[in-house]
Amino acid sequence: MNTYDDYLTFALGKGRLSNKTMDLLEQIGITCDEMKDPSSRKLIFTNEEHKMRFFLAKGPDVPTYVEYGAADIGVVGRDTILEENRNVCEVLDLGFGKCRMCVCGPESSAEKLLHHERIRVASKYPVIAREYFNNQKDQTVDIIKLNGSVELGPIVGLADVIVDIVETGSTLKENGLTVLEEIVPLSARMIVNPVSMQMKNERIKELVLKLKELIQ
Ligand code: PRP
Repeated sequence: MNTYDDYLTFALGKGRLSNKTMDLLEQIGITCDEMKDPSSRKLIFTNEEHKMRFFLAKGPDVPTYVEYGAADIGVVGRDTILEENRNVCEVLDLGFGKCRMCVCGPESSAEKLLHHERIRVASKYPVIAREYFNNQKDQTVDIIKLNGSVELGPIVGLADVIVDIVETGSTLKENGLTVLEEIVPLSARMIVNPVSMQMKNERIKELVLKLKELIQ
């Protein structure tokens, strides 16, 4: 399996992203019924008619598969693309999975941000957090990497603020936290391997065009 075979191979972030992507593809006539069986533990699926292959991966691994050409195309959140910083071409905003990357915390931390104090920042996204504070804000901070339930950080005194995804805002609200600064808007994106972009240009262009027409 590589960028030089006849198939167009997709790496999809497991879960909501892959379901929504398959819904979109179905609307342009590309189906893969095998993928709809919720009890299946299979990881790779083929559509022989369209010469397409789909595999499911952990979100942060999707850009890795695409950079190395194990997948021609990937669908993943922009948060993951920014955090992983891989050599891939971002070709399309798929319009779903909309949310924001924000600096959040208790109201009391707003002052610390304002005065550029040396604060502790907990995040699942240390690359994005570092880039934001060091390069955009020119503020020296200590970044603490967490793997989930990041909102706990300020509550238990681990950190002053967090850098995290905000969708509805209900997790923040229920934990007495608020958005203090907005870093970047996010949504699901289609990424392509740079070699596939050349070698399979016609097929990829056609696919992107059809999806664009559908979305807009
Ligand atoms: C994400 C994110 C926030 C929450 C935001 O967590 O890290 O905690 O969703 O959504 P909301 O604004 O709609 O409340 P996720 O559910 O992925 O779990 P995690 O905490 O384990 O990362």
